[in-house]
Amino acid sequence: MTHLRLGVNIDHVATVRNARGGAFPDPIRAAKLAEEAGADGITAHLREDRRHISDADIDGLMAALNVPLNFEMAATDEMQKIALRHKPHAVCIVPEKREERTTEGGLEVAREENKLAHFIAPLREAGCRVSIFIAADKRQIEAAHRIGAQVIELHTGAYCDAHSEGRIQDRDRELEAMREMAALAHDLGLEVHAGHGLNYETVQPVAAFPQVAELNIGHFLIGEAIFRGLEGAIAEMRRLMDEVRT
Ligand code: PXP
Repeated sequence: MTHLRLGVNIDHVATVRNARGGAFPDPIRAAKLAEEAGADGITAHLREDRRHISDADIDGLMAALNVPLNFEMAATDEMQKIALRHKPHAVCIVPEKREERTTEGGLEVAREENKLAHFIAPLREAGCRVSIFIAADKRQIEAAHRIGAQVIELHTGAYCDAHSEGRIQDRDRELEAMREMAALAHDLGLEVHAGHGLNYETVQPVAAFPQVAELNIGHFLIGEAIFRGLEGAIAEMRRLMDEVRT
């Protein structure tokens, strides 16, 4: 099995900083620490309302990182311009609604096929690896393939919610759907990633899918860093991921 990459999402370091204004804690410092702790990449979501990561953070990450930046963004002209200016290693297109607390569902690709195909073409031409954040839904995955995305990131949120709420049957159904869709996407030639809401309890069943090449994890790791430090929090996640891959 291929090495399973861990992308550490540092958005919520910026959330804590912004709760007070000012410069602390610094998400760039967190990203560098995550890099030293074994993160294979750093993920940051520049939201339209700039509620956590700022434009200056993206400048800083691009300048400071030795590992790839995965730039999460909505499919808007503004974000496309920013991505084309920076040309990060990867862009992940996510749905975004102002009123949501976090990214609540996968992107609607099937109904927006033409628009999204035009949207991602210049990003691909600029050399960015284009990923689509998507539900475990055959229609959406086939559409992501048709528009020319190289990667899909499966939305693990429904699986994680079902687990934390003790809805075991729902959890297992979600997991099964992701297992089937990871295989389908891989057969289509797409690279498969997964993320959202993963923690130490939920990571291993997803990490066990042989087609999954990368997990993107943020909120839990930044929270856990309060108790065991960012390096320790990442090291334990890495250990759990490696345990199921070997
Ligand atoms: N992947 C994508 C596409 C996301 O939008 C997010 C949340 O920003 C994550 C992964 C990480 O989710 P979490 O912070 O819940 O671990």
